[in-house]
Amino acid sequence: MTADMNEVDAVIQRRLASDVVLINQIAHYIISAGGKRIRPVLVLLFSKALGFVGPERFELAATVEFIHTATLLHDDVVDESALRRGRETANALFGNAASVLVGDFVYSRAFQMMVSVNRLRVLEVLADATNVIAEGEVLQLMNMHNPDLAVEDYLRVIRFKTAKLFEASARLGAVLAEASAEVEEACADYGRSLGTAFQLVDDLLDYEGSTTQLGKNVGDDLREGKPTLPLLVAMERGGAQERELIRHAIEHGEVERLAEVVQIVRHTGAIGATRDAARAEADKARACLRVLPESPCREALLELCVRSVDRSS
Ligand code: IPE
Ligand code: IPE
Ligand code: MG
Ligand code: MG
Repeated sequence: MTADMNEVDAVIQRRLASDVVLINQIAHYIISAGGKRIRPVLVLLFSKALGFVGPERFELAATVEFIHTATLLHDDVVDESALRRGRETANALFGNAASVLVGDFVYSRAFQMMVSVNRLRVLEVLADATNVIAEGEVLQLMNMHNPDLAVEDYLRVIRFKTAKLFEASARLGAVLAEASAEVEEACADYGRSLGTAFQLVDDLLDYEGSTTQLGKNVGDDLREGKPTLPLLVAMERGGAQERELIRHAIEHGEVERLAEVVQIVRHTGAIGATRDAARAEADKARACLRVLPESPCREALLELCVRSVDRSS
């Protein structure tokens, strides 16, 4: 796996090149900061688990990481975030305009790469995924500062903005391996559930996590007035005063009340409830793996279910 990921990194480095200095500078700045590389890992593990070991898997693994990176460049502008992967964000360092434009470069480079694989089905999967991610980000924008958001609508946002790319990454592994429709759907379902679990934990870490470990500032969600599951549960379970404090904090993005909000979120059990919801999704993901033959790749995919829930970074 390490050797395979080194291959992916080589493709990433090669494909990042541009004659435009500022593009090279910003794109390398965010890519070299690392990141967990979960989405490319899904492409590699599913394709290999299903017996495909051609070089296209490296190209597509790099492609999904580029799509992810482009969404992060855009997301940090939209969320006005200052810290990413333990570094100042590109928007903080180079400005919003440069971040958005270089995000567009990375995004469209991903499209050049997926075309190079020369399979219509790959284009279909990634065109759908990127379109749904954009819908998710816009839906989220519409939900900002709304403390009355239904849990169902919150879940829709995270399925769109995050789980969809996990789903596409897992599905691409099956597509490369020319798996049956049934197997392809099981892989896609795994990705969707894992991605949902992953974002649920991301949302709880915004209250429970540490800035140092996460490499991004905790409290960003509150400052943006994002009604995420920890807050929705805390409002449902808290007393009238607590409910009012959180409502107000969401409506006005009162990050200065973060310490009080964290206390309420903890003592109402909202952190635990969010972690439980993530665990339930991870269990669903695990069950999907029944379609794969026994192998080290399958083991690694099982292990990812555990790590996505228990992670603190
Ligand atoms: C961050 O994704 C955005 C979310 C979907 C929560 P990751 O947590 O995978 O980010 P990196 O790539 O490891 O930095
Ligand atoms: C993830 O949402 C962004 C995308 C999937 C496009 P967040 O805004 O919660 O991610 P972080 O917390 O900034 O990494
Ligand atoms: Mg963000
Ligand atoms: Mg977040």
